[in-house]
Amino acid sequence: MAILLAITDRDISQLQRELQEHLQGTCEVWAYPDCPDPSRVEMAVLWKHPDDLLQKLPNLKLISSLGAGVEHILADGHRPAGVPITRVVDDMLIDSMRKYILACVLSIHKRLPLFHRQQQESKWIKAMPPELPLHIGFLGLGELGAPIARSVATNGFEVWGYSRKPKEIKGVTCIHSGEESLVEFVRRINLLICLLPLTRETEGILNYELFRQMPAGSFLINAARGKHLVEEDLLRALDEGHIKEAFLDVFRQEPLPADHPFWSDPHIHITPHIASVTQQEMAAGVLAENYLRLKKEQPLLYKVSARLGY
Ligand code: NDP
Ligand code: OXD
Repeated sequence: MAILLAITDRDISQLQRELQEHLQGTCEVWAYPDCPDPSRVEMAVLWKHPDDLLQKLPNLKLISSLGAGVEHILADGHRPAGVPITRVVDDMLIDSMRKYILACVLSIHKRLPLFHRQQQESKWIKAMPPELPLHIGFLGLGELGAPIARSVATNGFEVWGYSRKPKEIKGVTCIHSGEESLVEFVRRINLLICLLPLTRETEGILNYELFRQMPAGSFLINAARGKHLVEEDLLRALDEGHIKEAFLDVFRQEPLPADHPFWSDPHIHITPHIASVTQQEMAAGVLAENYLRLKKEQPLLYKVSARLGY
């Protein structure tokens, strides 16, 4: 039997090697396009996989995303119904995202974007107060959002969090969608951090109607998915002063096209989808564990609900 790694945007020789080591010859590990016998593939690990791949694997028993997001798998029209879907989350992925979010939060708090713009004009102007008071709201309290909201709180910030189900996180005031609308939630914060999965419900959730409910001069960090944001609505909200600065790691089209208006907006801070990148040695451990659990018919790690979309 075999595991097929269908990951087309990077060199995955380390992942292949480490997965083989974990499984110690109990299963072959092939890297697409090398797939000598599609009928032997029991598990497929996908990231930017070819459109027609899944229909060529008749004996698939498990599909895993290489990353935390699974929208690329759920959107695949050839996905066989009933085959479980898992994803890869690990401590390094969480820690790396924690550092990205903390870097953005501290940069906003210490007004670094403002001083950067002043430097371009050789201006020495002390902004007062030197540290901006922040009321921080996390949208999404999952594998990444929950521990990171807690870390931000332990750094001395006032932190709120929004999810579907009720949560308890030390230092974080947790609100769920059953008790309060998102609009009510964002009215009391001036920094919104999106760590939601991309689903039918969350696509376009970062839009003008939401931004205009936030206090004037608020901040946005989107490290989740580009499709959460209605891009022209952000430009309008920046123009009208609802949003003052936005830190964006993800975009509707990646790479962000050279002529995109975000590039030249001094209040938009762009990183090229690097907030947290799956490390192959960590992924190999999670993937091997799930393959073994599949064989032993044990509960899978990081299983996704196809109905909920995350
Ligand atoms: P999880 O699936 O673990 O958590 C999702 C959270 O969102 C849960 O708290 C869930 O609520 C909440 N949620 C889902 N739908 C709604 C809704 N309609 N309204 C309110 N809350 C909702 O996701 P992760 O933490 O693993 O990942 C978060 C995001 O980060 C994903 O989009 C992922 O793709 C992205 N990501 C980005 C990376 C980057 O480098 N930029 C790297 C890794 C991940 P509940 O808990 O109640 O179910
Ligand atoms: C992920 C990502 O979802 O890298 O893991 O965006």
